[in-house]
Amino acid sequence: MTKLSKKFFALLLVGIMVFALAGCGNPAKETTKETDEGKEELIVVGYAQVGAESDWRTANTVSFQSTFVEENGYKLIFDDAQQKQENQIKAIRNFIQQEVDYIVLAPVVETGWETVLGEAKEAGIPVILSDRMIDVSDDSLYVAWVGGNFVKEGNDAVEWLDGYLKELGRENETINIVTLQGTIGSSAQVGRTQGVEEKLSEHPNWVMLDKQTGEFTQSKGQEVMESFLKSYDDIDVVIAENDNMAFGAIDAIKAAGKVPGKDIIIIGFDAVKAAFEAMIAGDLNCSVECNPLHGPRVAEIIQKLEKGEKVEKIQYVDEGVFPADTAADIIDSRLY
Ligand code: AHR
Repeated sequence: MTKLSKKFFALLLVGIMVFALAGCGNPAKETTKETDEGKEELIVVGYAQVGAESDWRTANTVSFQSTFVEENGYKLIFDDAQQKQENQIKAIRNFIQQEVDYIVLAPVVETGWETVLGEAKEAGIPVILSDRMIDVSDDSLYVAWVGGNFVKEGNDAVEWLDGYLKELGRENETINIVTLQGTIGSSAQVGRTQGVEEKLSEHPNWVMLDKQTGEFTQSKGQEVMESFLKSYDDIDVVIAENDNMAFGAIDAIKAAGKVPGKDIIIIGFDAVKAAFEAMIAGDLNCSVECNPLHGPRVAEIIQKLEKGEKVEKIQYVDEGVFPADTAADIIDSRLY
């Protein structure tokens, strides 16, 4: 090879590498559309978020806000509904008015969506459900759903409790349970309550003393737990339908002079980082995972739709169960 052709070859190689890296390193580029003038156009996504009620929700918001950014070809219009369905309906109508390209909805509750999602369909805007499900007879009102299997999470919590009571040699004792439920009518509450109850019937010596909503917040969880502790002096287990309510329950139990994690077994859902800290401290016995990192998953659905590809309608995310004795080894690898 001559000096000149070597130089040409080296330059060509560098060119190929730069081209390849640009293609592999930034897959989101594929999502940008071109205007008639050939300029790149951002894909506009309206996200109707539930609120900011829990650590899980904050992680979910961050996941969307860090995925749907200009560098990835998106403009995100984010709306926090403060746990109110009417605010989400208003937000969706605003998104329709603004002619967004996609609407993402994490529904506060399951029912009452037909009219507004019918309006989105009429306007030709695809709706992607994330996290919670809706209860509608016409499933053409949304193109896809991605989230956790809440019924399975409830089943998993009870299965863990069963094994733990056996470990403690308490399998034949009467076990008194109270449940701090999530927002009534949300699929996270409906599914987890159902998942717990279907397994509970397999244990005739377990008694569900009471259940009440703590709205998925730490403060309401604490308030409800305080009232449970006043009404019942023999609570063995608290099932809190999210970690933040479990943290509230821990505070209430400590204030009542009892030892959380020992006098009263506590199970949470979500497996947020703070739950691992509470497990390491001995306050929380187990957390059943609910993964909030849906931003990239929804982006993948949008990418496929942009290319005219088919997407799977129902997409469950894999989730684990984390007992306290695994917490110290796992905490550093948690992403939320
Ligand atoms: O829908 C998911 C649930 O909503 C999470 O378990 C909870 O923390 C959140 O508020």
